[in-house]
Amino acid sequence: MKGVILAGGFGTRLAPFTNATCKHLAPVYSKDKGAVPIIHYPINTLKKSGIEEILIITSRDHCGHMVQTLGDGKDLNVNLTYKIQEMDRSPTGIAQALKLSEVFVCQENFAVILGDNFFEDSFEKEIKEFEDYWSLANKAAIFIKGVTDPERFGVAEIDVQGVVSNIVEKPKVPKTNWAVTGLYFYTPAVFEILPSLKPSNRGELEITDVNNYYVKSKNLLSYKLKGFWHDMGTVNSMIETQNYINS
Ligand code: TTP
Repeated sequence: MKGVILAGGFGTRLAPFTNATCKHLAPVYSKDKGAVPIIHYPINTLKKSGIEEILIITSRDHCGHMVQTLGDGKDLNVNLTYKIQEMDRSPTGIAQALKLSEVFVCQENFAVILGDNFFEDSFEKEIKEFEDYWSLANKAAIFIKGVTDPERFGVAEIDVQGVVSNIVEKPKVPKTNWAVTGLYFYTPAVFEILPSLKPSNRGELEITDVNNYYVKSKNLLSYKLKGFWHDMGTVNSMIETQNYINS
């Protein structure tokens, strides 16, 4: 399985730091590891899960810093490739960034991870299951986590059989507290869905629309995360993650 890290975007919630460079290079201070950039964490999650062939989607403004920081990936025991997402072209969005991975992915199954997400867990077992079984039926997989602030995320609604029946992007009044986290497994068939996406009210192609496509065709698997998970896209969530890492 290949890996794709989405590290484009604007990072407006971490300004003014992100006036200078992208949030994925912001330092996380850890007693064990020292000052490491945020993006080391998703790279490490893929690596721990057995994925070494990784594409990083990065913006034109910050790709120089990204390459300078990570190089070819050898220091982290991975093999890195880069692709530019032009953030001044419309539409933007996570699903737009996903589109850019088609040539890299080629005919393989792949894991997509958001470049500002921290996962305690690793995913060898789920990857094996997906490769051996679910991908043959062209399914997709998401990972959900119970949170106290679901309105910040895509929120999964779950039916009586425990199956995800709908995902609502940043609902004002969430029906559940199950946040859809920034890790997804797809087969190359996902690239047939992407051209039909329409930009949302905020002018973005939404990953929630991609995943709802799989919900409607009853092809979406969902796993409940056991370990700690957090995004690092706001000052508060960054502090909470850093506190967890140092606890
Ligand atoms: P977000 O935090 O939703 O968006 P953002 O990074 O633009 O930040 P802000 O809302 O503060 O302006 O993005 C989640 C992850 O997805 C992040 O790691 C960057 C990535 N991403 C892309 O790669 N391309 C995009 O077009 C967007 C919106 C996000």
